[in-house]
Amino acid sequence: MDITTALADIQARINKSSSLKDLEDMRIQYLGQNSELTKSLQSLGKLAPEERRVKGAELNQLKMDLQITFAAMKAGLEAAELNAQLASQAIDVTLPADPTYQGRIHPVTAAMEDIAAALKTLGFVHAYGPEVESDDYNFTKLNLPPHHPARQDQDTFYLNPFNAEDRARYVLRTQTSNVQIRALEAYKPPFRVMGIGRVYRRDYDLTHTPQFHQVEGMMVESGTTFAHMRGVLDEFLRLFFGKSFKTRMRPHYFPFTEPSGEIDMECQACKGAGCRICKNSGWLEVLGCGMVHRNVLAVGGLNPVENPGFAFGAGVDRLAMLKYGITDLRLLFESHGAFLQQFGKAPVAAV
Ligand code: DAH
Repeated sequence: MDITTALADIQARINKSSSLKDLEDMRIQYLGQNSELTKSLQSLGKLAPEERRVKGAELNQLKMDLQITFAAMKAGLEAAELNAQLASQAIDVTLPADPTYQGRIHPVTAAMEDIAAALKTLGFVHAYGPEVESDDYNFTKLNLPPHHPARQDQDTFYLNPFNAEDRARYVLRTQTSNVQIRALEAYKPPFRVMGIGRVYRRDYDLTHTPQFHQVEGMMVESGTTFAHMRGVLDEFLRLFFGKSFKTRMRPHYFPFTEPSGEIDMECQACKGAGCRICKNSGWLEVLGCGMVHRNVLAVGGLNPVENPGFAFGAGVDRLAMLKYGITDLRLLFESHGAFLQQFGKAPVAAV
């Protein structure tokens, strides 16, 4: 094969190479140390001078032509690779962005803030009760002695082994009512306290979560009557919901109050006509309350004649659901951005 045909042949092959790796392999094959061309160039010295001159010029020309072809092809392949990379990594700035949510106050936190604000207006101040509480403060001092049957209403998380006589037994508080005992020990009447926070019960289904929230209130002041309680609680509900509506009271039993009652509010979804939310009754139960039992007042060395008082308790999660129109309790605990965006209160910028 003469040298021109060889050049054309190799150039055709080079031009077909599809990758830089392919091209490099070919370069080694045709121009590398062990290539025929290199070997031919090395053996030029063995030729007669005239032949060496002609053959040498030919081979060097071939080498140069091949080098140029390789360089051109390499530049082309590099450009193509860069273009492919740019195309695959391109950012389409017209695509819609992933949604981002501005932080919101969780509906339960918002409800707690609104409850506290309403009670503050009515003269109540914050009081404290721990979440890990002794059996004594969660039950016994609230007129629920060790074998009292009403203890079974509250599926308790016990933190140490069961021993009904052991006063040092600890529980996760089942109710914020422990705040009543703490307040009776800490304050002299007249006082009005509120306790808002987490409580725990061994319960988990569509309408119960093992951890939920309650608000507790207690007012002890000479001359306090059942009528004062009714007035304060109606006013509390009006302030919390931001509007007036009918309420009613039904007799009920709580160990720590006597007499006790439950307050219902007119269902705001159907205005009392009856619907799914109020189970067709037109009423929604919102509060438990009553006059503080003499056995509870005794914790503070008080008696119901000189220092009567009333107490009340309500579920914060339930109040939040009623206020914001949320129908599934579980949504309150799942923290989905879209949910919070819809119901959460916009945060107030810190100053
Ligand atoms: N602690 C009660 C509960 O968890 C709620 C309650 C009812 C609290 C009546 C009170 C009260 O202070 O007077 O069901």
